[in-house]
Amino acid sequence: MGLFKKMFGKEEKQTNVTTTKKHKGYHDLNIQSVEKVTPEAVRVTFDIPEELRSAYHFTPGQYVNICVMMNGQEERRSYSICSDASDNSTIAIAIKAIHKGNVSQWANEELKAGATLQVSEPEGHFKLASEEQQVVAFAAGSGITPILSIAKKLQEKGGKLHLFYGNKNFESIIFRQEFDQLSNTTVKHFLSQEEREGFNHGRLSKEQISEQIKNDLNLLKADAFFLCGPEAMISAAKEVLALFGVPKEKVHFELYTTPVNMKPETPAEENNFTGKSKVSVILDDERINFELDSKGKTILETVSNAGYDAPYSCRGGVCCTCKAKVLEGKATMTLNYSLTDEEVAEGFILTCQARPASEKLVISYDE
Ligand code: FES
Repeated sequence: MGLFKKMFGKEEKQTNVTTTKKHKGYHDLNIQSVEKVTPEAVRVTFDIPEELRSAYHFTPGQYVNICVMMNGQEERRSYSICSDASDNSTIAIAIKAIHKGNVSQWANEELKAGATLQVSEPEGHFKLASEEQQVVAFAAGSGITPILSIAKKLQEKGGKLHLFYGNKNFESIIFRQEFDQLSNTTVKHFLSQEEREGFNHGRLSKEQISEQIKNDLNLLKADAFFLCGPEAMISAAKEVLALFGVPKEKVHFELYTTPVNMKPETPAEENNFTGKSKVSVILDDERINFELDSKGKTILETVSNAGYDAPYSCRGGVCCTCKAKVLEGKATMTLNYSLTDEEVAEGFILTCQARPASEKLVISYDE
């Protein structure tokens, strides 16, 4: 029996895909099409009804979260948008089936046009700024998804994209033909497990990235550098760009998994406060009060366990969906891979990583 049938106890009613309850910032969107883009990845295109078009307006590079009930458990996942930002009637994401990825495998095997999914409004900081015209991108695997949307925008505004794109082999290259059709994009492909004429062999390692830059030092004049994919590639590219003197502000990166070795954006701050804190959380204009031990559960866990609909997705300090602002007192975070130094200085925290560090703490998700 397929997973869909196990999930919903029905044979065919694929349009009944829902979550247990409606979440703030999410809407039920109809799936217009599900298209295989490689043997292991699908592009899922959603119709955006007229009344939701402004809510789903996005900046190229951003992502949406999807939320499904799977075997009685609510699952949320973030997927980058790959569609053209100038088309406000649809929005598309690419989902690559990953090993042990129950949601990604289900999407690849069972998701069909006509079904409905609960999809969040677009979010994320990984986005193309209006003044960025000359762009260099390093992507690997499904990390290409937001880059396609960025490439389409650059094409529209007369910008230029130099893309370095790594994959295992030829057949795992997502959106190869679409990039070929964009005249303002140049692509250099790297295949780690296949030797093929016209394609570079190897991974986007530190040495490889460094070599590519040395071969064309004009790349360093780009307005922005976008890095998207696994941790190893992002770490390598960040390190090389820093060595070549590229300012940190020009380098945007998006992780697809919680990293193992990468240093967080801000180091974990020691929490010297011990004991219980009186915490107030403002969520959807409601004030939720509770006591929380500085060494106990995170703020997100506590609020969610109490039945409130606090926003989240990865729970690993990567996606930024759980962001809130400290209005009074102090909180410390274990991991932060997504908030910028400026946001941290303004008092923003990732609630999936935050615990109180003062006797009184007031935070707001509504800021
Ligand atoms: S839920 Fe993703 S950073 Fe907290």
